[in-house]
This record gives sequence, C-alpha cells and structure tokens, in this order.
Amino acid sequence: MSLYEQVKGTVEWLQERIPGVPEVAMILGSGLGALVDEFEDAISLDYSQIPGFSESAVQGHAGKLVYGRLSGKNVIAMAGRVHYYEGWTLDEVTFPVRTFALWGIKRLLVTNSAGGANPEYTPGELMVISDHLNLTGVHPLRGENDERFGTRFPDMSYAYDPEFRAVILKAGEELGLSLRTGVYAGMSGPSYETPAEIRMIQTLGGDAVGMSTVPEVIVANHGGMQVGGISCITNLAAGLGTERLNHDEVKETADRVRGEFTSLVRKTIEIL
Ligand code: 6GU
Repeated sequence: MSLYEQVKGTVEWLQERIPGVPEVAMILGSGLGALVDEFEDAISLDYSQIPGFSESAVQGHAGKLVYGRLSGKNVIAMAGRVHYYEGWTLDEVTFPVRTFALWGIKRLLVTNSAGGANPEYTPGELMVISDHLNLTGVHPLRGENDERFGTRFPDMSYAYDPEFRAVILKAGEELGLSLRTGVYAGMSGPSYETPAEIRMIQTLGGDAVGMSTVPEVIVANHGGMQVGGISCITNLAAGLGTERLNHDEVKETADRVRGEFTSLVRKTIEIL
C-alpha cells in the first residue's frame, strides 16, 4: 500500500469516530499533554489504536490523540509525539501531520522544549518560532513525490505563518507574558550539541535548538497547512552555562512554566 493510501485510510478511520474537521491541530510537546484534560466533550484515541500512528517509548511522551472543544473551537491534539532519534523513519514521524493535512485541517500549532542558543535567553522563557534551520541532515520529503500530498518543491518562505505568529504574540500580550521571537534550529539528536556546534548555530542565526518539529513543519507546509510554533526554553545550550545538560533540567523547567505555556496555547486558540 502506498503512503498516500495508508494516510487516506487513517483519515477515513478518524472520520468514522470524529464529527467534522477540527479547526486546528496541535502537537503538544513533553509536559504539555495535560492540556487535553481540559477539552470539553473529548474523544480520546490512543496512538496504539490508530492505524499508522507510532508510539514513543520515552517516558513522559506516551501518546494519545484527543479531539474536543478548547476555547470555543473544535481542536485535535497530539499529546506526545515520536522523534527521529528514537529510530522511527521520517514517514513515521510525520504520519500524523500528513493525516491532518489530508483530512482538511488548515492550521497546525506545534510546541516543543528547546535549549536556548541565544545568550539573551533564560530558561523558562517562551519563544514564538519565526523560522527554522533544518540541521538534521535529513529531509522528510526525500524520495518520489506524491502530488496528492503536495508539490515536488514546496515553498518555505512562510513556513511559520506570519498571521499565526501575530496571533500567538497577541495572546501573549493579553496574558501579560513577555515572549521571545526566534529561529528554531532542528537537530537529529539524541545527544545535546557540543559548545562548538552551539557557536555554529548562533552564527547561522539560530536562537533555540531542539530535536523535533522541523520534519513535521516541512510536511505541514507540503500539505498546505498554516503553521504556528512555540518553544519553551528549558535550559541553556552547551557552552552558555557551566552546568552539564540533562533531561531532568528540561523536565523541571517544562513543569515550572507549564501553566504559562498552556495559558498561551488556550488564548492563541481563542483568538485564532
Ligand atoms: Cl540544548 N539541544 C537539543 N538538541 N535539544 C534540546 C536542548 C538542547 N534542550 C532541550 N532540548
């Protein structure tokens, strides 16, 4: 079966369980998944049930797809995502986004945790993603192009939709949050970067660095979706502090700012 037929099969599977096309799809990064508990009239589907969806083994990433109403809009959210560094193929990593696009969902809000490469950034700050650097060394659209998903050479000039970005900034303003705006550098992981790699990323214009998001955003653009992105700066990138990096710090900071982060997502959905 072609990837297109698999994705189409999953769209039909979801259409049998979910009424109508959600207005927005969200990918909730580690620690943000609890937002789905606030959805009204929720329909929750474990990734293990959904054809074509993959399940992460990483703790705190266990996955479900939840449909419901949030801030008065019909939304669908991924609580947890799989990462390329776990060994999944990019087709597997991006399968849910292809599904959303083919289903007819117009907008995708992606969230993640990231290290701060910009020396002005402090852990706990939230960054609206204005653009990305694909430094993963791989590309999700490599190989034969199926025009039913999108064009061979997709434009990436507005990979993060300017209007969507303005909405996130407005939401932050209404909540009294001071948000950063910056460029997300996507790495394949799973090691964190060396200090030299962080200097490289700074030179290239990267402000935050992480191990997700870039493949999903490329595929969303291929499928004609408007994308918005928010990074939670969980830690200083290598060489910017004296501490060693570890996943516990990432989780601790994500936990600490979860309230602000989820408020921002809720408000963004409200005024979209
Ligand atoms: Cl410093 N690097 C990468 N690649 N991912 C991260 C990170 C750093 N901090 C949180 N996630």
